[in-house]
Amino acid sequence: MAKSPHLSRQDFVKFTAGVLGSIMGAIVGLPAIGYLLSPALKTTKLDAWVSLGPLENYPIGVPTPFSFTRSKVNGWEKTVNSYGVFILRKSESEVVVFSNVCTHLSCRVAWKEDIQQYYCPCHDAHFGINGEIISGPQPRPLDRYETRLEGGNLSIRLLEG
Ligand code: FES
Repeated sequence: MAKSPHLSRQDFVKFTAGVLGSIMGAIVGLPAIGYLLSPALKTTKLDAWVSLGPLENYPIGVPTPFSFTRSKVNGWEKTVNSYGVFILRKSESEVVVFSNVCTHLSCRVAWKEDIQQYYCPCHDAHFGINGEIISGPQPRPLDRYETRLEGGNLSIRLLEG
């Protein structure tokens, strides 16, 4: 016996229930999936003021190293990064703070008292006391942090996207 090319009433009801069930499932399920996945898609932007203590603790004319750590959350991953800076107090109230990250390939620079320069041993980069390029492959001077002085306390702005 040949089967009718048309849907039976029972098949139509099954098909419609399936379609409606799928739509209802999507309506209920998608926000839940989004809620579960949202931490993985979220990255936090780091924008914080880091206190370096009283300015008077730093000698005038001598780059002084300071290091600190900050944690950052990317999705479900939490990382702790360490930062190093040089504080160069130029007068009683004037100060510049440099990153100690070489602008070539991100090795750490060190202050060399004997030659009065920051030195990166990775590829022999030299920077002057104000972060300017002396010699080497680095494309730009040492990066500077935005500074803030409040009640004699020095802070720098840590900004990462
Ligand atoms: S990373 Fe500093 S010179 Fe290459």
